[in-house]
Amino acid sequence: MLAALEACGAGPHLPSAPAAATRLPGDIRDVVAIDEVGDATIVLARERAVVVRGGAVAASIAHGWRAGATIAALDGEGAWAVGVGDDGRLYRITLAGELEDITDRFGVAGVHAIAAAGTTTVFALPDGIAASTDGVHELRAQTTAPSVVAVSGSQIALGGPRGVEVWDLAGHQAHTYPIAATAVAFVGGRLAVATRDAVFVEHDGTLARLPITATQIAASNARLWILGDALYALEGTTLRRSTTTPPHGARLLASPNGDAFLASGTGIDRISLDARVSDPAWQAAVAPVFARVCAHCHLPGGDAGIDLSTAASWRADRDELVRRVIVTRTMPPAGTDLSQADRDALARWLKP
Ligand code: HEC
Repeated sequence: MLAALEACGAGPHLPSAPAAATRLPGDIRDVVAIDEVGDATIVLARERAVVVRGGAVAASIAHGWRAGATIAALDGEGAWAVGVGDDGRLYRITLAGELEDITDRFGVAGVHAIAAAGTTTVFALPDGIAASTDGVHELRAQTTAPSVVAVSGSQIALGGPRGVEVWDLAGHQAHTYPIAATAVAFVGGRLAVATRDAVFVEHDGTLARLPITATQIAASNARLWILGDALYALEGTTLRRSTTTPPHGARLLASPNGDAFLASGTGIDRISLDARVSDPAWQAAVAPVFARVCAHCHLPGGDAGIDLSTAASWRADRDELVRRVIVTRTMPPAGTDLSQADRDALARWLKP
């Protein structure tokens, strides 16, 4: 399909994907990375980190950042928001807005890029990479310092001006692509590479150029977000153009639950696709809470096995939602916080 699209040459007629934007609070500039843990969004910027919860800024921490990732918690409970400081050290950012220096837990110094998937975390170092599948054991490999890294399952991608190498976690080099990468990502186990003027996705062992003008990529679950003259979403082999108009000079960042963030001089917008836009009241009241609190379990194919990602599913399951979220308060389950303000917002939509 990708190759076929490319072959037809003339501007492709892509299906359009309805998108909705929700503005994050706080006037945050120069965004470096965005982490998400439970109901919290942690924005790392050049000069501070901001924890956003329940639609408000819960904490702001003065510190400089160069990278960040949401990693599997080293104590085995859920996820941690981790930032790489401009001092090259690794910090966990707690939801209360405290910094915990975890550099020595990984024994890495001079980190300049980080990527995580499942329980695996990969660091780009001045003289190569370090990767850990469990926060305890570590693979080290010396190589030309990659400027960008990505991880998926047992594959690691290392990219830079000289090309992209894909390794397996045992340290064996599997593939080299001679293409100057500005970003790498994996989507559905396939490699995606952005260069200064195009985006490529691996297809049967070769990189196929997407037939659009784009230079930024970010993987969210099974979706690859692509930013260029428009914001695109690639799922499987289906490429769609979103209805969002990206702000000038926007930077694209992914959210683990399938959304994207567009950060620009005017602020940060969370972009959600599809059915969620069909019902404006649901979109305004429920979608932001769903995205922050429920999505990582209740997306299609999610852990709960119950899709609550659309207004239609909320209408169909209304009685059970009222019972579980408002009456018995057994959802979200213990371990996931739902603020009173968020619970009230859901209640207003569920019982108008
Ligand atoms: C950590 C994962 C997780 C999160 C977060 C979570 N849920 Fe659930 N949810 C589950 C699981 C697992 C089930 C199925 C087992 C059960 O019913 O307890 C479930 C079941 C439900 C049900 C029952 C559906 C039915 O038809 O039986 C509702 C309603 C529900 N969740 C709503 C929510 C809402 C609303 C949120 C966010 C405010 C949320 N959940 C967040 C895991 C989660």
